[in-house]
Amino acid sequence: MVGINIRQVDINDVDGCYMIESSCYTSDGATKEKILKRAELFPEGFLIAESEGEIIGIINSASTDKEEITDEELKDMVGHVKEGRNMVIFSLAVLPELQGNGISRQLMTRFIEVSKGLKKEKILLICKSDMIHYYQNFGFLCSRKSKSQHGGFEWHEMYLLLNTVDEI
Ligand SMILES: CC(C)(COP(=O)(O)OP(=O)(O)OC[C@H]1O[C@@H](n2cnc3c(N)ncnc32)[C@H](O)[C@@H]1OP(=O)(O)O)[C@@H](O)C(=O)NCCC(=O)NCCS
Repeated sequence: MVGINIRQVDINDVDGCYMIESSCYTSDGATKEKILKRAELFPEGFLIAESEGEIIGIINSASTDKEEITDEELKDMVGHVKEGRNMVIFSLAVLPELQGNGISRQLMTRFIEVSKGLKKEKILLICKSDMIHYYQNFGFLCSRKSKSQHGGFEWHEMYLLLNTVDEI
């Protein structure tokens, strides 16, 4: 694909981000209010991919000193600490018709660079079983099965130690 720009979110992007979120996630997707809070409170950890002025992919997060991330409140940015030592990824999503073009790879690569720039120690996330291999491709390791039963699914906790990442 040509002409993809990765940049920090802006409040005006919230509708477009919600459109991507709701087209990629079903019962487990974030509400528009959650997306707005993430954009308002931690724009540094919220990147979008755009092409020809259209938002085509998103990644968003919070920051925390905690290692335990199954806390549902954090998704509402309750407990988000900007200077926390870890990043916690919530959404990573690409417009369905544009998936398979390396867009999430660009988003994740930039997200890792940004996290290193913010001097974070780790990136944490929980994912479903079928995504474990995807995140392992970026150097993430599995820590354990998550206590979360969000959306009725089984979740796994994964982490990336940023000081072990040289280049993706
Ligand atoms: C998962 C998702 C973000 C991937 O986005 P994408 O832009 O299609 O991914 P890319 O084209 O950048 O692929 C990057 C790499 O991941 C691999 N990959 C893509 N989707 C994958 C999947 N579902 N499982 C395992 N590997 C996958 C690709 O083969 C590629 O590997 P390579 O670079 O070695 O060739 C996208 O499919 C999506 O939005 N899914 C719905 C939401 C979702 O499940 N998000 C993850 C939440 S935990």
